[in-house]
Amino acid sequence: MTPIVPRHSRITGTGSFLPPKRLTNDMLAAQLAQDGIETSDQWIVDRTGIKARHFVEGDVACSDLAVQAARRALEAADCDAASIDLIIVATSTPDMVFPSTACIVQQKLGVHGCPAFDVQAVCSGFVYALTLADSMIRTGAARKALVIGAEVFSRILDFKDRGTCVLFGDGAGAVVLEASDTPGILATELHADGRHVGILCVPGHVSGGQILGDPVLKMDGPAVFKIAVNVLFDVAQSVLAKAGLTDADVDWLIPHQANIRILQSTAKRLKLPTEKLIVTVDQHGNTSAASIPLALDESVRSGKIKPGDTVLLEGVGGGFTWGAVLLDL
Ligand code: UT7
Repeated sequence: MTPIVPRHSRITGTGSFLPPKRLTNDMLAAQLAQDGIETSDQWIVDRTGIKARHFVEGDVACSDLAVQAARRALEAADCDAASIDLIIVATSTPDMVFPSTACIVQQKLGVHGCPAFDVQAVCSGFVYALTLADSMIRTGAARKALVIGAEVFSRILDFKDRGTCVLFGDGAGAVVLEASDTPGILATELHADGRHVGILCVPGHVSGGQILGDPVLKMDGPAVFKIAVNVLFDVAQSVLAKAGLTDADVDWLIPHQANIRILQSTAKRLKLPTEKLIVTVDQHGNTSAASIPLALDESVRSGKIKPGDTVLLEGVGGGFTWGAVLLDL
C-alpha cells in the first residue's frame, strides 16, 4: 500500500527565549566608552530603531537558548519532545565546530533517533530551515518538526567596531511544524548570491589548532542595506504570486529584524500599513536567525497574531541569502 503523504504543513506551536541580561543603548554606550569607543542612544535609535538587546552571560551556549525556546514551542503545541521526528536549528553561532547544535539540542531534550542538523544561512536561516522542514513534511520524510533559530551573536562581535557591535543581540525562537490536511504554509522561496560573500561575514576559521583570519563580524552596512531593501521587496512579491495572493491578503509582515528603516521601507513598498508590520528590533536588536521566530512568538503570545491570520516571513542576510515563507497560522 502506498503511504499517505500529507499535502501540507502547519505551525502548531511557537516559543522563544531571551537571555536575562538586557542592555539599553545607554548601558552599552557606557561600556564602550571605557575602551574609548564613542556612540550614543540617539545615533543608534536614529539609524536603526534599536533601543536595547539581550546578551548571554558566562558559558551559556546557543543550544541552551534553543532548548528553552523549543520547550516553550512544544508546550504551546501540546506535544511531547519524544514525538518530534525532525530537528533543524538555524544558527551562525553554533556551540562547536561539530557536532551540530541540533544534535546537542536533541540530547538536551532527552530524545534520540530522529534526524537533527543545522542550517547555516545567517539571518535568512530560519526561513531556510522552515522551508526545508515544510518540504520534508510534504514528501513524507517527517511529520512533526521542531524548527529553531538561535544565536549568541555577542560572541562574534568586535566591541571596538561601533558600526556593528551596537546592532546585534542574542536569543532564540522556535516553532513546531506538523503534517496537516489543511494549509499551513502556502508558499516558500529561497535565494542566494555568493557574489556578495564579503559584505557581511566572519572571516576567521579553525586550522591546525589555531584560529586563522579575524573571528569577528565584519559588515559593509550601507551595501547590505541597499541589497536588503531590494530583495525583501522582490521576494515578497514573488512568494505572494506563487500562492496566488496579493499584498492586500497579508495580515502581518515579519521581516528579519535588522533595522527599523529597512522594515518600514519594505512595508511601504509593499503598500502595507505600518500597523501590519511586526517590530521587535527596538527591544531585541538584530538576533540574526532568531529574529523572525522571536518576533512571531511574541506576536502570537501577545494576541496580536491570531489563528487563521496570513503572515509573511522574510529573511535576508550574509551570503548573500534571502527568502520568504507565506503562511496561514
Ligand atoms: O542582519 C543582516 C542585515 N544587516 C543589515 O540589514 C544592516 C544594514 N545596514 C544598516 O542598517 C546601516 O547601514 C547601519 C545602521 C549599519 C549604519 O547606518 P548608516 O546610515 O549606513 O551609517 P554609516 O555606516 O554610513 O555611518 C555614518 C556615520 C559614520 O561617520 P562619518 O564617517 O559620517 O563621520 C560612522 O563612523 O556614523 C558613524 N557611526 C557611528 N556613530 C555613532 C557608525 N556607527 C556609529 C555608532 N555611533 N554606533
